[in-house]
Amino acid sequence: MIEVSHFSKTYAGFKAVRDISFHVNKGEIVGFLGPNGAGKSTTMKVLAGYLPPTDGRIKVAGYDVVADSLEVRRRVGYMPENVPLYTDMRVDEFLRFRAALKGVPSKKVKDRVERVKALCHLKDVQRKIIGTLSKGYRQRVGLADAMVHDPDLLILDEPTIGLDPHQIRSVRELIRDLGKHHTILLSTHILSEVEATCNRVLILNRGKIEASDTPGNLTRLVRGGGAVMVEVNPNGTLLKQAFAEIPEVDEVEIVSENGPWVTAKVYSRLGAGGDIRDGLYSVIQRNGWGLREMSRTRATLEDVFVELTQD
Ligand SMILES: Nc1ncnc2c1ncn2[C@@H]1O[C@H](COP(=O)(O)OP(=O)(O)OP(=O)(O)O)[C@@H](O)[C@H]1O
Ligand SMILES: [Mg+2]
Repeated sequence: MIEVSHFSKTYAGFKAVRDISFHVNKGEIVGFLGPNGAGKSTTMKVLAGYLPPTDGRIKVAGYDVVADSLEVRRRVGYMPENVPLYTDMRVDEFLRFRAALKGVPSKKVKDRVERVKALCHLKDVQRKIIGTLSKGYRQRVGLADAMVHDPDLLILDEPTIGLDPHQIRSVRELIRDLGKHHTILLSTHILSEVEATCNRVLILNRGKIEASDTPGNLTRLVRGGGAVMVEVNPNGTLLKQAFAEIPEVDEVEIVSENGPWVTAKVYSRLGAGGDIRDGLYSVIQRNGWGLREMSRTRATLEDVFVELTQD
């Protein structure tokens, strides 16, 4: 559905995106992650046919974004970062206007508008002037606008920004639902959202792609993957030194100290595949330390993000 090959974007000499290549298959829900300024919105604008690339070839739904940008726009529903809405129009009126503008046949406009209003829970505010709506409702109008021409591909730039937790949950469910019949590329800084909805994650950093994999594979890769949290009473013995004698231990990080009890995070060289708990337990037993807790930690997408994008 999306094929990007050696794409770069330069703004007045500043390289925002540097020679990236990736693809998104039909039916995938892909999370597009990266720190502020990484180039996510820039890439999305180009994919949606709203901004020309400086270099590279980009095909969306089989069409070239430069040569066939109209065909691309017809098949893409794009929700930009700052949703530009006609604030003095009523919700209903706006969506009908947008549907017509996007080439929905006049006979079908009413149906499509009803459908997206239902999907985005906008029925209650359909007669309201957009300018008087709360941010969350405006966000939903933006989403409805992106979907009104029933596009194959949805490109959503931070669709849940500014929404309350109920709304975030409902938009997440909506995205999951839409994902059954649409291909979706969405950017967000809410990583739990990506873990809950996306089949694949693309991580962009300073205009370069750092990773492209399933959330599960990414969390297995990072250092936190096979780490163990222990709370022990090391009786004055040097805990770090004792644990470091185990060959599989990579690093010991003291998390907190509470009287004689020390909580430490022990990183493994084995990654998520191996288990260092037996080794740790032998050391604890041999030294006669007290042990209150020992558990393996599961790396989160946040760990992956931080590890891949820190300088
Ligand atoms: N129109 C523009 N003119 C000049 N520079 C721009 C323009 N738009 C974006 N940039 C620069 O390009 C870089 C990438 O911006 P972009 O908006 O794509 O980042 P982003 O990944 O979407 O970040 P965020 O998470 O903050 O939304 C930034 O350094 C930004 O300042
Ligand atoms: Mg952005």
